[in-house]
Amino acid sequence: MGIAVNAQKFLEVNTLDDLNSVNLDQKILILGGGSNILFGGDFNGLVLKINILGKQIVKEDDHHVWIKFGAGENWHESVLYAVENNYGGIENMSLIPGTVGAAPIQNIGAYGVELKDVFHQVDGIMLDDLQRFSLNTEACNFGYRDSIFKNELKSKIIITHVTLRLTKQHQINATYGAISDVLKSKNIIEPTIKDISDAVIEIRQSKLPDPKELGNAGSFFKNPTISNPHFRELKMAYPECPGYPQPNDRTKVPAGWLIEQCGWKGKRVGETGAHAKQALVLVNYGNATGQEILNLSKQIQDSVYVKFGIKIEREVTLL
Ligand code: EPU
Repeated sequence: MGIAVNAQKFLEVNTLDDLNSVNLDQKILILGGGSNILFGGDFNGLVLKINILGKQIVKEDDHHVWIKFGAGENWHESVLYAVENNYGGIENMSLIPGTVGAAPIQNIGAYGVELKDVFHQVDGIMLDDLQRFSLNTEACNFGYRDSIFKNELKSKIIITHVTLRLTKQHQINATYGAISDVLKSKNIIEPTIKDISDAVIEIRQSKLPDPKELGNAGSFFKNPTISNPHFRELKMAYPECPGYPQPNDRTKVPAGWLIEQCGWKGKRVGETGAHAKQALVLVNYGNATGQEILNLSKQIQDSVYVKFGIKIEREVTLL
């Protein structure tokens, strides 16, 4: 979010050997790209910035290729590498900020695809005894912006590598309305994976601010899921309210819509505000503090609750 904070200690980890002389029995933050974190203040402990690099094809057959990425690899560059080699599966997740190692933690997702759809294995070490471990898809308990790494294994491990299973005979996923609109506008009838990646980049650049230019952490809140009777009530009062059917008689409602209805879209409060093109994205106009952004986020949560009776949860990690 572009907030100026200090860490008591900071170490870049290029190989696991860098950890040999480190006391791991202290307050530690494992950092990827830092793109989904809001610091409420300085970090009173040791920050380990994971820079383990590398990518290697570890297995291949006629249909798939398994690529093992170092956790410190930049996510978008890894997507571009896949696209250039015509490996399919992650093109819908183009331009997501952050590192490959951070991707499984919140099961990143965009435009109809989630990391879990292409995930094969994570390798890492336990912080308490430095033992190595590997987890497959099932063991990671992936959910919507959720995984075992945000729950049982929170603050207990370092992810060192992530292996993805990408397709050679890919199936394009252009179901998301905004993607098919871009393809239509360009008269692309049989899109390649590069066409999809280019479309996603265009969509993201048109409404999501670039964190290098305007501090932000992407979606600040998760999209809430409400019961179908609650959604029907909402539809009576607001017939234009969008909703996406979910299992178990529930509906997902876009938090961006709820926030916009509460009048926050494009509204600036001091050095922070809700982005003018996407109300779900809170931005730092330059000198915001974490507390200021946190306060705004609480006001937004309260107003959505008062108007709609819906609680929206933070998606960013607060420290
Ligand atoms: N909308 C509004 N006003 C707004 C923003 C959104 O009315 O200011 C409504 C519109 O109806 C729009 C709908 O919300 O059609 C959905 O908006 P959008 O397609 O922008 O997606 P989103 O639900 O706001 C989610 C993810 C994004 C991901 C996009 C595309 C979450 C929390 N966010 O956003 O992920 O890029 O879908 O798949 O699920 C992120 O996690 O940081 C992130 C950017």
